[in-house]
Formats: sequence, C-alpha cells, structure tokens
Amino acid sequence: MTVLPDTMRAVVATAPGGRDVLELRQVPVPSPGPGEVLIRVAAAGVNPVDAKTRAGRGAAQFLGDGDWPWIPGWDLAGEVVAIGFGVARFAVGDRVFGTVGFPGAAGAYAEYAVAHVSQLSRSPRSLSDVDAAALAMGGLTAWQAMVDAAGLETNQRILITAAAGGVGHLAVQIAADLGAHVIAVASPANHDFLRGLGAHDVVDRTADDWTSGIEPVDVVLDGVGGPARAEALPLVRPGGTIVSLPSGDDGVPAPEGVRSPWVFVAPDGLELQLLTGSVERGVLRPHVSRTFPLAEAAAAHEAIESGGTRGKIVLTTD
Ligand SMILES: NC(=O)c1ccc[n+]([C@@H]2O[C@H](COP(=O)([O-])OP(=O)(O)OC[C@H]3O[C@@H](n4cnc5c(N)ncnc54)[C@H](OP(=O)(O)O)[C@@H]3O)[C@@H](O)[C@H]2O)c1
Repeated sequence: MTVLPDTMRAVVATAPGGRDVLELRQVPVPSPGPGEVLIRVAAAGVNPVDAKTRAGRGAAQFLGDGDWPWIPGWDLAGEVVAIGFGVARFAVGDRVFGTVGFPGAAGAYAEYAVAHVSQLSRSPRSLSDVDAAALAMGGLTAWQAMVDAAGLETNQRILITAAAGGVGHLAVQIAADLGAHVIAVASPANHDFLRGLGAHDVVDRTADDWTSGIEPVDVVLDGVGGPARAEALPLVRPGGTIVSLPSGDDGVPAPEGVRSPWVFVAPDGLELQLLTGSVERGVLRPHVSRTFPLAEAAAAHEAIESGGTRGKIVLTTD
C-alpha cells in the first residue's frame, strides 16, 4: 500500500486580490469523507471563474470567511489514491476527472484534492490527464447550456460566441455531433481552428456589423455577455433561446417569445460520462493551448485574464 504524505504543495490565495496573492505553500493533505475519494491531482484546468474568484468576484460570494486562505481550482484529473466511507463506484488506482465542489472551496490547484464520487467520471482512455482536466467545466457548461437549458436538437441552428474559448470550442464539437448547424463567432485567427472542430459557418466578431447576413437561429450560446448579447438577441427566432454564461445583467430584455436563461454550471458525474462517451467515439477532444506548473499559477491567471485563450489552459503538478 502506498503511504500518503501528510503535507502537499498547493497554490494558496492568501486573500481576495490581484495575482500577487497566489503563493505556493506546503499545506495538509485533505482526507476523504463519506462518499468522497482522495485524488492525486496530475492536472488542474484553469477557468475564468478561478481568476474572477481570486479577485473577489466570480464565486467568491459562495466562499465563507473561513475558506480563506483559499486554494483555487475546480477542474481536475488524476488518480484515486484513497476512498472514504461507503465508496463503491471508484477504487484506488482509477483515473478520474471532474469539476468538483463548485462553487464552494474545492482546491484543485494542489497535489491532492478530495471530491464526491457523484461529481467524477472515469477519465477517457484516449485522453491524457492534461486533456481530461481541460474537458470538465467547459464541457459541462456547454452541455448544460445548449442541451439542458436550450433543448438544442438535430437540424437546429445554433450561434456560439467566444467559440474558440474554453467553453466554446467544446460547444462547437458537441453541437455538431448533435447534428445542429453550427455558426461560430470568433476573431479571424481562430476561424480555421473552428472549421476544423466542425463549425459549418464562421463569423468575424471584429467586423463592425458582425450579425449582418446571419439567418435566424434557434439557439444562441452567449459566451461573451454585455453588448455582444444585445447584438445577438435579434438573431434568435421567435420561440428560440439565448443562453448566457457570463454573469451580470446587461439590462437588455429578450424580445417577446425568446427565452433568455442564464446558466450556472453544476458538477455532474453522469453528464461527464456522456462527454467521456463522446471522446471515446472520437467526436469530442479538448484543445490545450498552454500548460503551466503549479508554481506559475499567477502566470496562468494572467493568461486566462487576457481573454485570448484558444481552448484551455491547464496547470500541472509534476
Ligand atoms: N455561468 C457559468 O456557469 C459559466 C461556466 C463557464 C464559463 N462561464 C463564463 O463564460 C465565459 C466564457 O468562458 P470560457 O472559459 O470559454 O472563456 P475563455 O476561454 O477565456 O474565452 C476565450 C475566448 O473568448 C474570445 N474573446 C475574447 N475577448 C472577446 C470579446 N471582447 N468579444 C468576443 N469574444 C472574445 C476569444 O476568441 P476570439 O478573440 O477569437 O473571439 C477567446 O478564444 C467567461 O465569462 C466565463 O467566466 C460561465
């Protein structure tokens, strides 16, 4: 039996603030409670909400005073190294991935983390840990927005903004696999990338009147918010849906007959299994543009805060 260490390296945000609050520290290894497993984290996905929460926005409202100093990160992939009371779904040695504990304190930017089994899936055999860590929150968000909230169906038309980003590049592949007609909105440098993922049409978001000439769509997946949401609203057909990801009400009501929900991603191991199945069928693959070691978490946050990420950024623990 492997003997586990008492302490581990973890990235700690000492208090809400700028990137300089991130420190690499030695902290106690957590223990799995009932229904939980302890995971040796190989890779942790970096999401915009990580940096927003570190800055005191994002999910910071769901953290209590006792959660600071806070270990950021919700997306992880690695190996189960210990199981808590009552766990039968996973065993020591299993490779797992997931979005865990969101929006509470979960601590994926660390060498070890605990997670409830209901929030995990076995990692796809064809993905490395780095790629698996890039799949969870982006894939769950895309699925929950397009399928659960908007009810996207075969042969429907969907327009996806921020299409080359962490959520969007997975949404394009999932929507195309569902048989939808996918219109991807991005800057021109990402157009070939998006066509390669299955987008049927690409639109230059930097053009003055980027919505002109687009026929009505059934669904808009709004990954940008603000003015971009307002500009996309007239594209939605009566009875259609615009589903937004960025938080904050832009104050512009949807036209009568157009649904306009805001989605807040929920951890879900069963939906992760669906995504795993899509990966194994060869129709879904996360794109990782950069990796950083744990010690460079501040640089990873700088990169995700730039807004220019193609696919995902991932932290590695080795
Ligand atoms: N509500 C939820 O549960 C939930 C879950 C996940 C994510 N989100 C939010 O959804 C948003 C997208 O997340 P993400 O992980 O996909 O982000 P991301 O990876 O940072 O998105 C990057 C992409 O956004 C595009 N972009 C950058 N600036 C833009 C602008 N001004 N206008 C239009 N596009 C721009 C860029 O492509 P181009 O330059 O090529 O356009 C880039 O590829 C974030 O605000 C995130 O916090 C919410």
